[in-house]
Amino acid sequence: MPRFPKPPEGSWTQHYPELGIGPVSYEDSISPEFYELERAAIFNRVWLNVGRTEQLPRNGSYFTKELKVVNTSIVVVRTTDGEVKAFHNICRHRGNKLVWNDMPLAETSGFCRQFRCKYHAWRYDLDGNLIHVPQENEFFNLDKNRYGLAGVHCEVWEGFIFVNFAAEPEQSLRDFLGPMILALEGYPFASMTSRWSYRSEVKANWKLYLDAFQEFYHAPVLHANQSPSKYSKAAAEVGFEAPHYRIDGPHRLVSTSGVRAWELDADLRKPIDEICRSGLFGPWDSPDLGPLPAGVNPANCDPWGLDSFQLFPNFVILIWGQGWCLTYHYWPTSHNSHVFEGTLYFPPPRTPRERVAQELAAVTFKEFGLQDSNTLEATQSMIESRAVGDFLLNDQEVLIRHLHRETAAWVDEYRRNAVGVS
Ligand code: FES
Ligand SMILES: [Fe+2]
Repeated sequence: MPRFPKPPEGSWTQHYPELGIGPVSYEDSISPEFYELERAAIFNRVWLNVGRTEQLPRNGSYFTKELKVVNTSIVVVRTTDGEVKAFHNICRHRGNKLVWNDMPLAETSGFCRQFRCKYHAWRYDLDGNLIHVPQENEFFNLDKNRYGLAGVHCEVWEGFIFVNFAAEPEQSLRDFLGPMILALEGYPFASMTSRWSYRSEVKANWKLYLDAFQEFYHAPVLHANQSPSKYSKAAAEVGFEAPHYRIDGPHRLVSTSGVRAWELDADLRKPIDEICRSGLFGPWDSPDLGPLPAGVNPANCDPWGLDSFQLFPNFVILIWGQGWCLTYHYWPTSHNSHVFEGTLYFPPPRTPRERVAQELAAVTFKEFGLQDSNTLEATQSMIESRAVGDFLLNDQEVLIRHLHRETAAWVDEYRRNAVGVS
């Protein structure tokens, strides 16, 4: 039988008395007015992760990102000097979207030496300078130096590309990330080049999906059929509880113990796990990643399952004990919908068997994601009824309290400043 650790004595929530223990409201996830405030108070002010530097393998590589929540599209590019820069994806002539392929609203990526507008062929170099205007002498005193692309603040940390839409960001990216996230420095993200991505619009508020990944209370129930029934039953009976929760500024962490699936009794695994040497959770034969950074596995679990670092507002880095990692992004598209992006990162497989092991992890992840997102759409549809207005959170749902409190705090502060009240 697998060994599941017992919860620690006392309560996690008591370490964060400011979060309270009372019922909570989900008005912040069903109100169109609140969503508009979130856009202004949060998404237009904080650092947002839009991708990784491996998506820009050489000078001239670019990708676009559609960001409905801040009502723009951006193009992120590696310049001739190898720097990463971001621009609003709009031509300075008459406002055409500068970079797109067949579908104007679809994201794209590629390589170029210059950006050339499809409408009248104005051209910009990789630093965003306007360098060519056809029939330039027909314009009136055109000073090309004044009509470069509109820049977006952009900084890179550990290969993660962040942008900030404030006129002047209130904090540097490092100050915003803070010590808990910075303690991940040194994790071999860049060498995890074997990747799978999923993307889907989910008809639920963006915070509801974050909530689904910041507690494990639901796992033995909602995901029971993912494991042999004997395993799920054992997990449910012991009442699985993560051994470590932490809050640092606007960001959160939950860390869990794991299992060595290959050491379990055969009836606690699925036959496909044996064949693919993968499962609960990830490949069984991963290469040694070397020493991991100090911020990983804070409870020193052995075996260790995962650490889920939730970077405010909408980005998650999830590091698995079995030598791989995931990122999640939740891009709001309205008060009751968002685009979910999940990306899996593995070290390059050394053999076909390792590749198959990664593929099984990827499709298993998709199955988990579908189970979660179905439930979220069911939740959204009913909280919008407002038939019930107060909801209960238990001790291991402490991070949910924090996300909603933190969101409310940014909105409150924005509202206070907007009306000039100190
Ligand atoms: S709108 Fe881009 S060149 Fe005219
Ligand atoms: Fe889940």
